[in-house]
Amino acid sequence: MKRIYLSVPHMGGDEETFVREAFVSNQLSSVGSQLDGFEHEMSNLVGLPSVALSSGTAALHLGLRLLGVGPGDEVVTPTLTFVASVNPIRYLGGKPIFIDSERASWNLDPELLTGLLKKRAARNRLPRVVVVVHLYGRSADLDPIFDICNRYEVPVLEDAAQAVGATYKGKHVGSMGAVSAFSFNGNKIITTTGGGMLMAQRQDFVDKARFWSTQARDPGIAYEHSELGYNYRLSNVLAAIGRGQLRVLGERLQQRRAVFVRYRDAFADLPGIEPMPEPSWGVHTSWLSCFLIDQAQFGASRDNVLDALAAQDIEARPVWKPMHLQPLWVGAERLGGSVAEELFEMGICLPSSSSLSLAEQERVMAIIREQCRARVARSLSSVSK
Ligand SMILES: Cc1ncc(COP(=O)(O)O)c(C=O)c1O
Repeated sequence: MKRIYLSVPHMGGDEETFVREAFVSNQLSSVGSQLDGFEHEMSNLVGLPSVALSSGTAALHLGLRLLGVGPGDEVVTPTLTFVASVNPIRYLGGKPIFIDSERASWNLDPELLTGLLKKRAARNRLPRVVVVVHLYGRSADLDPIFDICNRYEVPVLEDAAQAVGATYKGKHVGSMGAVSAFSFNGNKIITTTGGGMLMAQRQDFVDKARFWSTQARDPGIAYEHSELGYNYRLSNVLAAIGRGQLRVLGERLQQRRAVFVRYRDAFADLPGIEPMPEPSWGVHTSWLSCFLIDQAQFGASRDNVLDALAAQDIEARPVWKPMHLQPLWVGAERLGGSVAEELFEMGICLPSSSSLSLAEQERVMAIIREQCRARVARSLSSVSK
């Protein structure tokens, strides 16, 4: 039987046409009409000026630098995220403060953030930036986050790497922060094979990021450099793939959401397995379909389920390991209880590709139902009564 992967690229058909255009024009490097088109189309979607970059990580790196993060500066981030949300803080010599998740969305807990900023304001030691992640495509609860950040004038960077197409109260995620980052990595909802996008409220921020992304070469014919730059620009060829992918974004979102809903409905009668919540404040992407497995009720642990899937050549994974538990971040300040730890211990991400066929999904669901020993025990006990 064919291996089932967690999340694979899913081309729409127009990508090759755009790539061919890039070849015909011989625009095969870091300038060209595909890049212009891709940025224009993403800007239309989200409503902010944009610059296409080589990765979401690059967008986060440049975004933090734009917001003034430098050596010794503190940056608040959720502890439950992928390490790429946090690594750029260290690239700049900054220090993360990890905040626990709230249960409603698994994202940064606004109450903990409010408490932290109030305390820090009283000591005149506010963090430089607050990073908000829209985890697995669920939008974070942005109103209370912006309320407190605006009160103390702490800028928000939205990490929307997993959330292109998600909204919060009708607004596209990534459109509200001072800066935001999107990812078009190969495992994302739409992909450029590898790539990212930085957006900002201020056009001069986007212009500066574009300048830094191409080695920060000063105007003039001499290769003179007054600022530190990077080789972070997206290729025109990869932007062409992104344009094709944007044509099918709506369809891909529908397909991802349908995968999640099928799992959710199929497991509704099983004890001890719960879907990631779908807070009513937003329309979410369901980039990955995530569930919590309570061993005591389900009868098998999350790891038992992962093993059973792996034995059938099915790729699944635990929910992210919180950053405060990572060897890389030992000693970093953290705030909150054990919500993120619990989500990590119980959480599983199931195959979620938009191209996942019904038959493939049924294979996954059958294994999970089979693993639910509590269901089996329950039905045996009802037979013996
Ligand atoms: C939450 C989050 N932030 C940032 C990134 C980094 O994006 P990229 O892989 O494009 O560098 C990812 C990518 O997986 C992500 O999931």
